[in-house]
Amino acid sequence: MTAKIIDGKAFAEGLRGRIAEHVAQLKAEHGITPGLAVIIVGHDPASQVYVNNKARQTSEVGMNSFKYELAEDVPEAEVLALINELNNREDVHGILCQLPVPKHIDETKIINALNPAKDVDCFSPENVGKVAIGLPGPVPCTPLGSLMLLRDHLGDLSGLNAVVIGRSNLVGKPMASLLLRDSATVTIAHSRTKDLPAVCAQADIIVAAVGRPEMVKQDWIKPGATVIDVGINRIKAPERGEGKFRLVGDVDYKGVSEVAGAITPVPGGVGPMTIACLLANTVTTACLANGITPPSDLTA
Ligand code: GUN
Repeated sequence: MTAKIIDGKAFAEGLRGRIAEHVAQLKAEHGITPGLAVIIVGHDPASQVYVNNKARQTSEVGMNSFKYELAEDVPEAEVLALINELNNREDVHGILCQLPVPKHIDETKIINALNPAKDVDCFSPENVGKVAIGLPGPVPCTPLGSLMLLRDHLGDLSGLNAVVIGRSNLVGKPMASLLLRDSATVTIAHSRTKDLPAVCAQADIIVAAVGRPEMVKQDWIKPGATVIDVGINRIKAPERGEGKFRLVGDVDYKGVSEVAGAITPVPGGVGPMTIACLLANTVTTACLANGITPPSDLTA
C-alpha cells in the first residue's frame, strides 16, 4: 500500500479562505473586525520569521494585526503592562506573546497575565480545562489543526483506536482530549510506555508528537492506519553538502508511507495548519466576546 498524502498546506489555504469569509460576515453583520496582537521580545531570527508570518496572514484574512516589537532587555514589568493594556482594548480579541522570551522574563507570569478570553494560544489553565470538558473557547493550535486534518480524511472518528505519542501540555494532552471528545478510544504513550511498537500496532490513528526524528517505524503501523506527524526536527544532511540540514518528522516517512493508509508529510503537513488555527481561534474569541456563536468549522 502507498499512503495517501494528507496535504496540510492545501487544507490550511482552504481554511484561511473560510476564515476570510467569516471575518467579512462579522464585519458586515455585526461591525466587528477581529484583531490579533502579537508581542515579540528580542531579535531571535526564527521567532521573527514566525511572527512576521502570523502578522501577514492575519491581515490577509481581513483581520486587524497589531505587532509589538520589544527590546531584548525590556523589563518584565513593561511586558506585563503591555499585556494588561491589550487585555482592556476592545479592538484586540487575541493576544500572543511569542515564546521563548529572554531569561529575565518569567514565561509563566506572561501566560498568567493574559486575559483567558484573549489567549489564542490556549496556554492558560482555564482554557486547557475548557478544552477538556468541551466548553467553547480557543483550542491549542497544533492539536486543532491535527484534528481538522483527521476529520477531513476519516470523517467520523467514533470508536477508532487513537494512539498519541507524547504527553506535552501543548500537544499530547490536548490532542488526547480532542480525540476523546470525538469518541475515539485514546491511548497516550510516552517515554515510559512498555512495548510502544505493540501499542502502535493497535492504532487506527497515530499522532506522533515526541520531537525524536523518524522514531516511528514501518513495522509499528497497522496497515491502512492514518498517521499524523507533528514533529519538526532539523537533522544533518551531508548528502546535500557540508553543514547542510533537512527537516524530518517524528515518523520514518519513507517506510511508514508504504504501510499506512494516509500520512502527513514534513514539511507541508501539520505545520501550515498551526497559524491558520491561530487565526481561527481569533475569530472564535472575537465571536465569544460579542455574544455570537463561533463558526463550527473553525473550532473543535
Ligand atoms: N513559539 C513557537 N511556537 C509558538 C506558539 O505556537 N505560540 C507562541 N506564543 N510562541 C511560540
